[in-house]
Amino acid sequence: MKVRKAVIPAAGLGTRVLPASKAVPKEMLPIVDKPAIQYIVEEAVASGIEDILIITNRGKSLIEDHFDHAPELEEKLLSSGKQKLYDDVVSLAHLANIQYVRQKETRGLGHAVWCAKSFVGNEPFAVLYGDDVIISKTPATGELIGVYEKYGKSVVGIKPVATELLPSYCTLGVKPVEGKTYDVFDMIEKPLPEEIISNFAILGRCVLTPDIFELIEKTPPSRNGEVQLTDAMREIAHRGGMMGIEYTGTRYDMGNKLGILQAIVEVGLEHPEIGGAFREYLKSMAATL
Ligand code: UTP
Repeated sequence: MKVRKAVIPAAGLGTRVLPASKAVPKEMLPIVDKPAIQYIVEEAVASGIEDILIITNRGKSLIEDHFDHAPELEEKLLSSGKQKLYDDVVSLAHLANIQYVRQKETRGLGHAVWCAKSFVGNEPFAVLYGDDVIISKTPATGELIGVYEKYGKSVVGIKPVATELLPSYCTLGVKPVEGKTYDVFDMIEKPLPEEIISNFAILGRCVLTPDIFELIEKTPPSRNGEVQLTDAMREIAHRGGMMGIEYTGTRYDMGNKLGILQAIVEVGLEHPEIGGAFREYLKSMAATL
């Protein structure tokens, strides 16, 4: 079955980027001139996704406004002849068919995905974590969908992570299959150092089959009280139904301060409008360090 739907969980509290994320959702923090979540929606669309559900919560209405018309602004841009800006702003309201649902309590990523149950129905679907931006010519979600279509199994997007960082991510048991594709036979969320299986961790993307919802319902909250998506996916891995692909793009963690800066610097350097001037500025700055 074709993967047509995507879920973007964006209901976390973003405590690692406070105070910036107090009133502005971290998914709306900009990388140069676009909020993080716009890169993510664009990746989904470039991957062939038609319907998107964004999981929000109180105080995230800015996300809905961003993907809606802004009549006063549009009129002003048009009447002052700013056609390019007008086109950019208007196109945001037509990027995809986007719906929203609120996660009423912040009970973890697993619970956020569970909130998409009736939207997803009985189809495979992609999950794009709302604070993980992946910059790539080949959209990462599209690479995962390719693996799903070939093997008919759930797929996680994976990358090697430095050993000292693994306890804040997860660790995967993997067996190579072909190229950058692996069989994933185990996964442990936020492992203790002695639990580390490999340096591969799930970073920001997965394609799941709808049996995940029943597994989430059976998943008890973890040590921090949140229902972890990894704990539910682990069951699929144990049943032999999980693959992983080391996707090609570069992933930026917009949920932490250093990740935000890295994204801004690297995207800024490639930016058609300010890239050249920014490069010169960075060089002069670097010379003083
Ligand atoms: P994170 O664990 O990185 O987000 O979740 P967080 O809870 O906001 O982070 P900190 O630790 O407080 O800084 C990954 C993604 O899942 C969403 C987040 O918005 C983020 O995009 N999420 C997380 C939810 O939608 N609901 C939740 O209950 C938790």
